[in-house]
Amino acid sequence: MSRKRAEARIHELAAAIRHHDYLYYVRDSPEVSDEEYDRLFRELRDLEDRHPELVAPDSPTQRVAGQPLASFPTIEHAAPMLSLDSDQAEAALRRFDERVRKGLGPEADVAYTLEPKLDGASIELVYREGRLHQASTRGDGRVGEGVTENVRTIPAVPLRLHDRPRPVPPFLAVRGEVIMRVRDFEKLNERLLAEGKEPFANPRNAAAGALRQLDPQITKARPLDLYAYDVLLAKGFPETTQGDVLAALADWGFRVNELTERAATADEIVAYHGDLERRRDDLGYEIDGVVVKLDDLPARERLGWTSRHPRWAFAFKFPPRKEVTKVLSIVTSVGRTGVVTPVALLLPIELGGVTVSRATLHNREEVARKDIREGDRVRVQRAGDVIPQVIERLEPEGDEADRAHERAPVWRMPAECPSCGTPLVERGPFTVCPNGFRCPAQLAGRIVHLAARDALDIAGLGDETAKLFVTAGLVRQLPDLFGLGVEQLLPLEGFAQKSSEKLVEAIAKASHAELRRFLYGLGIPEVGETVARDLALHFGSFAGLRGASAEALQEVPGVGPRMAEAITAFFADPGNAAVLDELLARMKLKEGPPAAKAAAAAEPEAPLAGKKFVFTGGLARITRRRAQELVEGLGGKAAGSVSKATDYVVVGEDAGSKAEAARKLGVETLDEEGFLALLTQHGVDPAELEQSG
Ligand code: IVH
Repeated sequence: MSRKRAEARIHELAAAIRHHDYLYYVRDSPEVSDEEYDRLFRELRDLEDRHPELVAPDSPTQRVAGQPLASFPTIEHAAPMLSLDSDQAEAALRRFDERVRKGLGPEADVAYTLEPKLDGASIELVYREGRLHQASTRGDGRVGEGVTENVRTIPAVPLRLHDRPRPVPPFLAVRGEVIMRVRDFEKLNERLLAEGKEPFANPRNAAAGALRQLDPQITKARPLDLYAYDVLLAKGFPETTQGDVLAALADWGFRVNELTERAATADEIVAYHGDLERRRDDLGYEIDGVVVKLDDLPARERLGWTSRHPRWAFAFKFPPRKEVTKVLSIVTSVGRTGVVTPVALLLPIELGGVTVSRATLHNREEVARKDIREGDRVRVQRAGDVIPQVIERLEPEGDEADRAHERAPVWRMPAECPSCGTPLVERGPFTVCPNGFRCPAQLAGRIVHLAARDALDIAGLGDETAKLFVTAGLVRQLPDLFGLGVEQLLPLEGFAQKSSEKLVEAIAKASHAELRRFLYGLGIPEVGETVARDLALHFGSFAGLRGASAEALQEVPGVGPRMAEAITAFFADPGNAAVLDELLARMKLKEGPPAAKAAAAAEPEAPLAGKKFVFTGGLARITRRRAQELVEGLGGKAAGSVSKATDYVVVGEDAGSKAEAARKLGVETLDEEGFLALLTQHGVDPAELEQSG
C-alpha cells in the first residue's frame, strides 16, 4: 500500500475506532461486535507498525501504556480546584438555599442542578485544540500531580474531542471524577489477595491508587472510568448554565452522569437526595451524597467564594453507613507517635460493599463512656475512608437476652506497652508509650510513615514488612533501613531473591528523595504534606531548615507559633538529632534553591497585574493597609475613587457612596470574604492574610 493510501486508511480506522470506543465506553451502546472491533484495531496497529511516522499521539493505539516514570511532574491547575462546603443535615442544605436566595435577591429565578457526588478521585483534564494535553490530580487544589500517561489508559477519557455539532474551545480544562465501579473493585481486590498483596479499603482508594502508579501498565490493568462535571477554564466558552456545561461536555464526548436533574426548591433537593440514597447500593459505583449547584453561571459570579468554597454549590452528603455486629475482643495498637489505641475486633460485616472486621474505639475514655466490653452488641459506622468506628453499645437481643446474658468485665487499658512492655502514661484521654524509637511498634510505624507513598514512596515496604524488619532486629534505628542488603532479607518469611533485590533497589532509589518528601516522611509533629512542601520551598536545604529559629520558621506561609515551636523542639531533641545525622549520612537528598531564587528564575506574570481595586467600608479580618499591600503584592493597584477603569470594589461594613457608584458603573463588587477568596485563589496563604507586613 502506498504511503498516501496508508495515511488515508489510518485516519479512517482511527476515526472508526474512536467512534466505537465512545459508543462502548461512554454511551454503553456498542454498534459492532468485539470481533469486528478487534479486526479494525489490528488493522490500524499493523498499518502503524509499517508506517511509524504516521502514528498520531492521540491514535487509539496510543492508549497502550507507555514507559514507567521516575516521578510525577507538579502541574498547576488552569483554575483552582476548589472543594465543596458539605453537610449531611437537611437543615444545613436549607440554610445553603436561603443564603443563595438572599445573596441573589428576591427577583432572582433560582434553579439548581443536582448531581450524584461521586466517590472517586478528582481530576483535571486539559485539552488543546481538542486533543488531550495533560491530566493532573487535585493535589492541594492549586497544584497536583501530572498523571497524563495513566489517564490516557482510561477508555472513557477521550483523547480527541468531538468538534461537531459544538466546536471545542482551543483551550479547555475539564474537571471530573475518576471512579472504579464496585464490581471491578471487588475483582481487583480478589486479584490482589491472590497475589498476597494488601487489598484496597474502598473503590475511591483503589481509583486514586491506580492513578498514582508510576508504571502506566499497572494503571491500565485496573479498570477506571470517568465522569466529567465541570469546565474549569475555556477560552471563548459561551455557555451560561450548568445544564449547558454538562450538555457541552456530553457533546464533546465525555460521559456525564445520567442521574443529573434540575430542582427549583429545597424540597425538591431533599426528595432527590432521599431517592438517590435509597438507590445508592444499586448504582454499581460509589456515591456519598448529592452535589447541588446553582445553575446560572453569571449568578455564581455574583455569589462568589469564601476562602475555601464556592458559595453557589453545596455537597448534601448521605449519612454514614451503619450496621450492627458483635465485639469479639478488644485489643490495643501502638501508633508511630506512641499513642495506644483500643481496637474492637468484630464479627465481620458488610458496610457499603466493604467487609469490616475491626473498628476503632479511639481512646480509654471513649471505651469507658460507651461502656463497650468484649461480647457486646454494637453499632458500627463507616464514613468514607475514615476507619470504621464503634458508635454505641446496644442491648443484647433474642436468645442472648433471654439467657440473662452476663456481660464480660469492664475493659481496661493495659498498664504496659503491648509492644515493648514500658509502663504506659496518660495524656488527657490518651494513653501513650513513652519509649519512642526504642519501642518496636513505634519504630515500625515510623518506617511505614517514611516509606509511605507521599513520603519516600518505597514500594513493598508496608506494615507487615516494617514489623518484620524490627522484630528480626534488622532495623534498630530508622537509618538502618538504608544499610539493608539482599542477603539480610532472604531469610525473612516471604522474601525470595527477586523480591529482596527489588526492595533493596527501591530503598536505594528512595535515598535520593526530594527534600519535601523526606521532611514529610520524618513525621515531625504538626508537619503534614503541605507544610513540608512549603518548608522545603522556603529553605531549599535541610541544613537551612534545621538551623532555623522559631521566628525564621514563621516567615513561611502557613507556619504559626505553635507549629514553629513543634519543629524547633523536634530538631533540638538529642535522640532525633542523632537519627537525623545518621540518616543524612546515608542519603543524598535532592535539594533546591530557596523559594525567592526559584521564583525569580521562573518570573511568572503577577496574577492581578494591572487590576485596579477600590476599598470602601470597614474590613473585619484584615486592615485596609494590609489589604492594599496584598493586592500590590499580586501586581494590582489600589485606587481612591471608583471609575469605569476600576476592576473591583471591595465593599466592607457600612460602605458609603463608592459601593453605590460601583453598582451604577457596573463594576464588580466583592464583599470581604469574596475579596479574601480572590487573594487565596491567587496564591496568598490564608495564614498570611492577617499578618501586617
Ligand atoms: S463540583 C467547585 N461535582 O466532591 C466545584 N464535585 O469537595 C467543585 N465530586 O473533591 C466540584 N462528584 O472531586 C463536583 N458532581 C460533582 C462531584 C464532585 C464528586 C467531588 C470532587 C471534590 C468533592 C467536593
